[in-house]
Amino acid sequence: MNDIIDTCAAIIASSRSLICLTGAGISVESGIPPFRGPGSLWETIDPMEFAHIQSFMKNPERIWRGFLAGMKDLLDKAMPNDGHQGLVALEQTGRLSTIITQNIDGLHQLAGSSDVIEFHGSFAYQRCLLCDRRIPSKDIDLSRLPPRCDCGGIFRPDCVFFGEMIPPDCLTRSRELAALCDVMLVVGTSAVVQPAAMIPVIAKSNGAIIIEINPEPTPLSAKTSDYVLKGTAGKVLTALVDAVNRIHS
Ligand code: OAD
Repeated sequence: MNDIIDTCAAIIASSRSLICLTGAGISVESGIPPFRGPGSLWETIDPMEFAHIQSFMKNPERIWRGFLAGMKDLLDKAMPNDGHQGLVALEQTGRLSTIITQNIDGLHQLAGSSDVIEFHGSFAYQRCLLCDRRIPSKDIDLSRLPPRCDCGGIFRPDCVFFGEMIPPDCLTRSRELAALCDVMLVVGTSAVVQPAAMIPVIAKSNGAIIIEINPEPTPLSAKTSDYVLKGTAGKVLTALVDAVNRIHS
């Protein structure tokens, strides 16, 4: 494993444009369960029933009670882990420019990463369905569900539900960056949800080197990833950052 870490560190240290795609796996060590696999969210609730925009619009109270209130509690308490910090450290070496994240937890920004594309929006903010006011999630009152704005409208999280479009500016910028980067880190994503899963494929088809970090194989591992660093985001990114710093020192 040390050899492959050193090889990847050398690639990162000499990269011209390094970007990173992250998924739920990077936040597992912060206590947030992933969406798929053992102990995951979609094992306990049906996403089509609780995370589809049509279900929310039909019965916001049910979705707030059955899913969103618990999610807000979890996210309010979550703190960045070594994986998030590792990406901040890579930015500080002057290598990593942008993170494209599928996560809605805001932990990259809390850790200190400065350019984060929130591909699936953010749970850190809630938006009123009536007047479109956007307020921090921590400021909404959940004593009555669904939570309501001063105007009487119902709040929804400012993230992408199933059945909704990816914010067009995020999609365009992500595709552009993927086409231009020469190295892409892919951390903690099952790479099965489109269009996010296409981002590494776009990078690869434009000549980028793909370095994947995940304890489990994904559909990218065999064909798209040039290097697969098997392990958790916190451990692998810490080792990778140490190796990059050794090259720079
Ligand atoms: P998934 O839950 O599908 O995949 C999580 C990945 O993280 C898996 O490949 C795990 O093997 C890996 N993993 C688990 N623990 C890890 C750790 N400690 N370190 C590194 N990797 C770890 O999550 P996503 O790929 O992010 O969309 O899911 C994509 C989208 O599906 C989500 O953004 C969400 C969901 O439906 C929406 O809600 C729109």
